[in-house]
Amino acid sequence: MKGVILAGGLATRLRPLTLVTNKHLLPVYHKPMIYYPLEAMRKAGIKEVLLTTSGDHAGDFATLLKDGAEFGLKLYYAIQQNATGGIADAIALAEEFVNGESMLVMLGDNIFNFDLANAVQRFESGGSGAMIFGVHKDTESKQYGVIEIDGSGKVISLEEKPEKPRSDIAQTGIYIYDKKVFDYIRKLAPSPRGELEVTDLNALYMKDGILTCEIIDWWVDGGTSFDELLAANNRVAKMVAEGKL
Ligand code: DAU
Repeated sequence: MKGVILAGGLATRLRPLTLVTNKHLLPVYHKPMIYYPLEAMRKAGIKEVLLTTSGDHAGDFATLLKDGAEFGLKLYYAIQQNATGGIADAIALAEEFVNGESMLVMLGDNIFNFDLANAVQRFESGGSGAMIFGVHKDTESKQYGVIEIDGSGKVISLEEKPEKPRSDIAQTGIYIYDKKVFDYIRKLAPSPRGELEVTDLNALYMKDGILTCEIIDWWVDGGTSFDELLAANNRVAKMVAEGKL
């Protein structure tokens, strides 16, 4: 399985911190934010990762991360022409890179310590469709996609930042897709905010009955707000002190 990490977008919710710096280069306690998904990729057993970002920050990532050897990975880069084309628009850049394999996608601002190796292995040995990862969270804050699942983990509803959430399960930025993902992306149209939405992509898998969800424990989207970024810093500091990270 190949890995894809998304590090584009404009991060307007974190301005002025992100006026001259890409959000994923901001510190989270003792490391730049982008280190966390890279380390999670290695832990999951992924060997080759494509990092997508906008042209104006690509050089900073290359300077910092080089060829990925420090992370035990082979790292490749792709430029997303429209920095806010949407998460599915960025995933589409990986078509040649994944070359018919399945892929593990992570949003570059997601911080978690769940070990994905088991899910990756299960998907590789016969899995198809898509797998997404949810977390019990206060979905009333309307910052997340919200997932509803049945007893077997099959996704039965999925909405992006709904007014009235149907569950307390937030959609994290961790997704596993089979090779059909690029055909699904070609079917998408931009949302009212002008983006190819990951939730619309996942909803296509759901409509075909091939979208499952696994619940993970601790997870933070460090890019949502100053408070979430602070929470990520504090949580990582605590875990480092406890020897858990
Ligand atoms: O983090 C989880 C949430 O991420 C999910 O609950 C939502 O369903 C999903 O839509 C997404 O919501 P956000 O509003 O947090 O997405 P954001 O625009 O912050 O972008 C998330 C990451 O993707 C961030 O690391 C930047 C990257 N990105 C985003 C866009 C729009 C790109 O690389 N390119 C893009 O065009």
